Amino acid sequence: MLITLDDVLTGEELASARALLAECPWESGLATAGPQAAEVKRNRQVPEDAPHLPALRRLVLGALARDPMFFAAALPLRILPPFFNRHGGEENRYGLHTDNAMRQAPEGAWIRADVSATLFLSDPEDYDGGVLTIADTFGSHGVKLRAGSLVVYPSSSLHEVTPVTRGERLACFLFLQSMVRDAGHRRLLHDMDMALLRLRQEIGETEPVVRLTGVYHNLLRAWAES
Ligand code: NI
Repeated sequence: MLITLDDVLTGEELASARALLAECPWESGLATAGPQAAEVKRNRQVPEDAPHLPALRRLVLGALARDPMFFAAALPLRILPPFFNRHGGEENRYGLHTDNAMRQAPEGAWIRADVSATLFLSDPEDYDGGVLTIADTFGSHGVKLRAGSLVVYPSSSLHEVTPVTRGERLACFLFLQSMVRDAGHRRLLHDMDMALLRLRQEIGETEPVVRLTGVYHNLLRAWAES
C-alpha cells in the first residue's frame, strides 16, 4: 500500500533543506549499496561525515514527528537516520531493487526495515523522469510528488527510480521499523483509522464511533510489538 502525504515540510523547512543540501558534498550511491543494488544504483548521496547531515536529519525527523498522518500510515517504532540523494547527470537512476531487510543504526542496533519513505525535495517541473515506481500486488505505481511531500510504502516491495533525463532530483529517503510488522495488518489499521477520522468529523463521538475506536486499539494491541 502506498500512502502519500502532502506538505510534510513547510515552505520554510523546504528552503532550509535545499540551502543545506546546496553546501553538501556528494558521494556515489555505491558507497552504501549491497552487491545486487550496486548493479543498478547510479545516483549520488550525502556522505555520513557531511557537516550539515545532522541538521538535515533533525529537520526531517522533526517534521515527521509532528505529522499525525505519518504516524497513522507507518506506526513507527524505530526510525533510521534519513539519507539524502540526488539523481541527475550521469548518475541519474536507481534500477529495480528491494530494500535490505535489516539495517544497522549508527549506535549499532539492528533495525528491521518494514516501511520505506521518500520525501521529494525538488519541484516536479524542475526535472524529467525520476519517477519512483513501486510494484505491489495491484500492479506498478509511479510516484512523483510536489516538493515537501512524502510517499510511504512497504520496504518489501520492488521499486526503482527511473532515469532523470533533465535537471536534478533531490530527495530524502528513510527506513523504519513499524510497531506492526505485517504490511496487510498495517493497511487494515490505516483504512480503519482514516474511516474513523471521517466518521468523527461527520457524526461526532457517538457511541458506535467510540466502540469502533476501541476495536482499532484492540487490533493494534494484538498486532503491535515494541
Ligand atoms: Ni529502495
